[in-house]
Amino acid sequence: MKKNIGQEFVEKTKYQYLGISDQEKELPQPPLAWGAEGANCIDLPRPETLAMPAVDLTQAIEARKTWRKYTGEPLSLAELSYLLWATQGVKQVTSRPTTLRTVPSAGARHPLETFILVNQVEGLRPGLYRYLALEHQLAEVCLEADVRERLVAACGKQVFVGTSAVTFFWVADAYRSVWRYQERAYRYIYLDAGHVCQNLYLAAQVVGGGCCAVGAYNDDQLNAELGLNGVDHFVVYAATVGKINT
Ligand SMILES: Cc1cc2nc3c(=O)[nH]c(=O)nc-3n(C[C@H](O)[C@H](O)[C@H](O)COP(=O)(O)O)c2cc1C
Repeated sequence: MKKNIGQEFVEKTKYQYLGISDQEKELPQPPLAWGAEGANCIDLPRPETLAMPAVDLTQAIEARKTWRKYTGEPLSLAELSYLLWATQGVKQVTSRPTTLRTVPSAGARHPLETFILVNQVEGLRPGLYRYLALEHQLAEVCLEADVRERLVAACGKQVFVGTSAVTFFWVADAYRSVWRYQERAYRYIYLDAGHVCQNLYLAAQVVGGGCCAVGAYNDDQLNAELGLNGVDHFVVYAATVGKINT
């Protein structure tokens, strides 16, 4: 039977990856995660020491909803540590090497870095930090007094970005995925981010919090505030978490 052009194209390009990837060219893979780059670092309570209350998964899925109004009560450092672990925590570094984390990622490329705007967390000065997933630490990025205001403005003045206990910004380091998947990486990066935010929605309930996904932001403004060039490194998704009255 004569094949149509579409079938031939799919067969020829195997999984629809175009051309030869840098991995196939045997170019070295990029680092698994960004380092501290000389920033002041803060240890987070280790994930294995966290004693979080048991929450029934089925009930948590049923109860999940978006929360934009928070009590203003701070998160503890242990609670923040838990949320970071639940969204990007590294469980294993394999021999490939690659990281295996609490969330899935296409090809275990894990192309995301996490920035957080700390508004109300016990023991942390308000400001912008970056999560070092391999070390389970926070690196200070910007503690200027108006950083909160600037980030709220970059998120279309959505006030809960500044009234949350913490606001997460997930940033793609695109080459980590492009190295293997080329153009198709740009689909996987966004799918990966969806898994991360869903874990945050569920994990927020464990700390007596509520979560709101944030996709309405000014890309150029937000990338500039986080010091990203918007091409190789760019914000793909954000979310707020704060304590709530249920
Ligand atoms: C990709 C995405 C982007 C979103 N962006 C925003 C946002 O910028 N601001 C906001 O208030 N809610 C945002 N939301 C939350 C949705 O408005 C919310 O999920 C929807 O109204 C359904 O309500 P529920 O989550 O309570 O079921 C976003 C949700 C998703 C999945």
